[in-house]
Amino acid sequence: MIVVIDGPAGSGKSSTARAVAHELNIQYLDSGALYRAVTYLFLKSEQSLPAFFESLYSAKLSFEFGNEFQVNLNGEDITSAIRDPKVSAQVSTVAAMPKVREYINDLMNNAVQQDVYIADGRDLGTAVFPNADCKFFMIADLETRAKRRHQELSLKGLQMSYSEVFAEIKQRDRLDSTREKDPLKKADDAIVVDSSTFSFDEQVQYIVSRIKETITIE
Ligand code: DC
Repeated sequence: MIVVIDGPAGSGKSSTARAVAHELNIQYLDSGALYRAVTYLFLKSEQSLPAFFESLYSAKLSFEFGNEFQVNLNGEDITSAIRDPKVSAQVSTVAAMPKVREYINDLMNNAVQQDVYIADGRDLGTAVFPNADCKFFMIADLETRAKRRHQELSLKGLQMSYSEVFAEIKQRDRLDSTREKDPLKKADDAIVVDSSTFSFDEQVQYIVSRIKETITIE
């Protein structure tokens, strides 16, 4: 059983999906983190496409959800490393590669067979899980999203100015929504949640109640 939340960078979908997963005691899958993990590999391959695809097909990429969403690559925990600004700057380019999308989609499709999941991303309701049991599309204006992301990065001690964060998110919005393969798009049957009009707790409770109206979780 799968619930999806799509939306642009900084709309609050990851933190919301994680809180909903804890509240409902279900699994959380952060698809952006998987694209970031693959981008980490791309940077390690020094951006050479043949070397990158070779390392991708032999990679052991796995994830688990405990307190947070943890990503492991070839036995190394790369959960923090994938949040590096160098990864953020390249991730939309790497995520636009059809072979990368196929690789991640297979990984996610295999994972969600086993349990009840809430997953967040860009194209989950439209391309990856078109038959998801419940779909949400989270939005917020660009300034709100940039402010949130800037605050998150500052708390982690990463040095990026507000205007750099704003420009990076704006550029990712453009690349993610205009790419040819499975762009960021609201599914026709997704419920829109504007996170700039809710407090965090309100939006979590709203989503929890809509899920409970739609599906039964044991
Ligand atoms: O959720 P995030 O900002 O960590 O995602 C990082 C990037 O991954 C995002 O800019 C585009 C890509 N992505 C994607 O193309 N499709 C998804 N389902 C999730 C993320």
